[in-house]
Amino acid sequence: MKKVFISALIRSNLIVLLFLCGVTAFAKPRITIIATGGTIAGAAGSSVNDSYKPAQLSVEQIVASVPGIDVIAEINTIQLANIASQNITEDVWLTLRKTIDYLFSNNLADGVVVTHGTDTMEETAYFLYLTLSHSCPVVITGSMRPSTSLSADGPMNLYNAVATAASSESKGKGVMVEMNATIFSAADVYKGNTVAVDAFESVYGPIGYVRNGEPKYVRNISSVFAAEKYNYRPPFDIKELKTLPKVEIVASYAFASAEPIRAVIASKAAGIVIAGVGHGNYDRAISAEIDNAVSKGISVVRSSRIPKGGVDKNAEEYSEKVPVCYNHSPQTARILLMLALTQTSKPKDIQNLFEQ
Ligand code: DGL
Repeated sequence: MKKVFISALIRSNLIVLLFLCGVTAFAKPRITIIATGGTIAGAAGSSVNDSYKPAQLSVEQIVASVPGIDVIAEINTIQLANIASQNITEDVWLTLRKTIDYLFSNNLADGVVVTHGTDTMEETAYFLYLTLSHSCPVVITGSMRPSTSLSADGPMNLYNAVATAASSESKGKGVMVEMNATIFSAADVYKGNTVAVDAFESVYGPIGYVRNGEPKYVRNISSVFAAEKYNYRPPFDIKELKTLPKVEIVASYAFASAEPIRAVIASKAAGIVIAGVGHGNYDRAISAEIDNAVSKGISVVRSSRIPKGGVDKNAEEYSEKVPVCYNHSPQTARILLMLALTQTSKPKDIQNLFEQ
């Protein structure tokens, strides 16, 4: 009798175990879509109008416009903001980082998709890339045409972003941007066209493409800060920060005056990024004010308005007091300098961070 009871117990536990394995194996990945606004939530007066209002639709309305998205993943949504991304704020960045960190640290999501305006998408992506580092992927997407457009690109971009975030192939890839069925690393993506649906580019090319709802990766992420290389520790741990160091960008151009940089110095900025001409060059008026800024303890980094080639130590009149940005744009150099200043203001240490 006892033997019969034990074997029945083993059989029933095995059945439960097989059932649970089956459920787990077929359980859909849990993807949280965090909406911040932008054109993907935009609406125009007609389906062919070029002018439109960004940030009109809710996250529920955006998700509802993508049939089948809940087949590939269990979707949860958060409306974190609803703004045009030229109006993104430090608070949105810090709250977005904290929300994603909370979701992954508490095993509440297997991936996150952020819908965002395209104007500052590369900046938000780079900020998250430097301050988050989980094996679960973060995929940022948006659209170049409003939701009311005759051929809106938002629904497919959102579907592809969820498919990318839901794929096991995306583990360890860190923060990515997915637009027009193309996947970029947050380390080196930038918006290269004001209106085209294939607006996003990278000097090093895409890291992958989305084909039939599946990400196909074609190269690894080269940056030393890549999640798997960095042992899933964020390069900059800013959990306790309530605000970021103030860093501004000052452009140089033909006979540029020193007024803008003088105003930044007077505003007590912690750092200045020079968006120089050529190999990170600037005119004498700006040069004099850079010396003034450095003497006041303001960190200055040289970058260039030119998207390719970067700025290295072979720049004209290189000075160790003014680090160069290597392969950063002015806008991503600003973000790296902001975060560097949460740890150090020594030009040598800052140069090392840019050199990595
Ligand atoms: N205002 C721009 C922004 O929110 C619209 C561009 C877009 O989202 O494509 O970034």
